[in-house]
Amino acid sequence: MARSTSVFVCSACAAETPRWMGQCPGCGEWNSLQEETRGKVPGRGATPARVAATKPLRLAEVQAQTYERLTTGIGELDRILGGGLVPGSLVLIGGSPGIGKSTLTSMALGNLEGAGRRTLYVSGEESAAQIRLRAERLPGAALQVPVLAETDLDTVLATLEAERPEVCVIDSVQTLHASDLSGAAGSVGQVREVADRITRLAKARGIAVLLVGHVTKEGALAGPRVLEHLVDCVLQFEGERERTYRTLRALKNRFGSTSEAGVFEMRQDGLVEVLDASARFVGEATRAPGSVVLAAMEGSRPLLIEVQALVSESDLEIPRRVVSGIDRNRLALVLAVLARHGGVGVGTSDVFVNVVGGVRVDEPGADLAVALAVASAARGIAFAGEDAPPLACFGELGLTGELRTVAHAERRIAEARKFGLQAIVTPEAGTLRAALRTLRREAARGPREIATV
Ligand code: TYD
Ligand code: MG
Repeated sequence: MARSTSVFVCSACAAETPRWMGQCPGCGEWNSLQEETRGKVPGRGATPARVAATKPLRLAEVQAQTYERLTTGIGELDRILGGGLVPGSLVLIGGSPGIGKSTLTSMALGNLEGAGRRTLYVSGEESAAQIRLRAERLPGAALQVPVLAETDLDTVLATLEAERPEVCVIDSVQTLHASDLSGAAGSVGQVREVADRITRLAKARGIAVLLVGHVTKEGALAGPRVLEHLVDCVLQFEGERERTYRTLRALKNRFGSTSEAGVFEMRQDGLVEVLDASARFVGEATRAPGSVVLAAMEGSRPLLIEVQALVSESDLEIPRRVVSGIDRNRLALVLAVLARHGGVGVGTSDVFVNVVGGVRVDEPGADLAVALAVASAARGIAFAGEDAPPLACFGELGLTGELRTVAHAERRIAEARKFGLQAIVTPEAGTLRAALRTLRREAARGPREIATV
């Protein structure tokens, strides 16, 4: 006996309940449950057939698998993927609208098509004519990529079955619609069904699929978190639309490391990999009060980026705290430590902190850079003279004002040295107060190169 069931899935946390409820029992969100039908499941009375037991293997006896890789020709993308696309795998590329997801995937397909691979670009967002317009700007064989502008899931699956591409882009997963499900395209049930059916076909036919997914303002993949579990690899495309620099990083990767990230620049003719990002950011760094260079780690690579702060008299009861490129709560923590343990209080001033170039830093090692930039802005003292290289720093701030070590200290220092930055404040300084004291003493001698702390 078999029957289909109805379940209710939370659009916020993907918890399932058999009944509709006003509040999700998983995450407490209100009105987030949506109905989904499940395929045939064995009825309650059914008894499982007797099956023979299987002898488990020792891991050492298991044949290690090597994956053939399809290189996309975009070096940074291939590196982040762990050496290229694995046939039959699903890669989800998330990012906010306008960040360049369609551009990146179009370029990858163009390169693959140019290398003699069979490709297919499925778009539910744009018409074939719009996709052509984009492809005209792109290098390589972008114009040779076969395109299907379609939102009906069954048509897409039938086309995939007929065309049998080696690599396929679905742009985006939120625009496809399974006609046998009631929800609107982009709802939890729809996205899950779409991804599930595409996964099954991709695995069965060995098609590498790049699924494009939209991201909400908060940075989460719109709708279902479930997608992240379903796919083999999740890539996040970050940055700001108005800026030229974007970072691509792996959040999950079954076939490679998740610590890889790459920097791209959006140009007139598509996305270009930025291989000398540190040199560019250091070259563009100002020496004005409020500016320091953070020796950050982008995945397994060191990256020098400028952090700027502005502290100005506020006319608001609750002064502004505006950040770009770092976490807002982290700024609150840094300001509190700075006031309590660094002797720099900015309680009644507006504070703006910006990571230059639209780069996002998501590591505690950025704390010290934020603290020094704010201190420098508040006191109006520059850390480096006009002709001297900028001050570099890294380190996490503890709540008692101590500087905590972060990973890869030697690599960060080596990167700073490589680009001529001699003055580097590291967690070796001990406490925030000690670091500020040394810098203040050095700055009092006039703006010049500060000795390494
Ligand atoms: P797009 O890839 O369409 O973003 P997404 O698919 O993530 O929404 O492109 C985003 C922006 O990039 C768009 O505003 C136009 C711009 N762009 C360039 O600057 N140069 C180019 O070569 C292309 C194709 C787009
Ligand atoms: Mg797009």
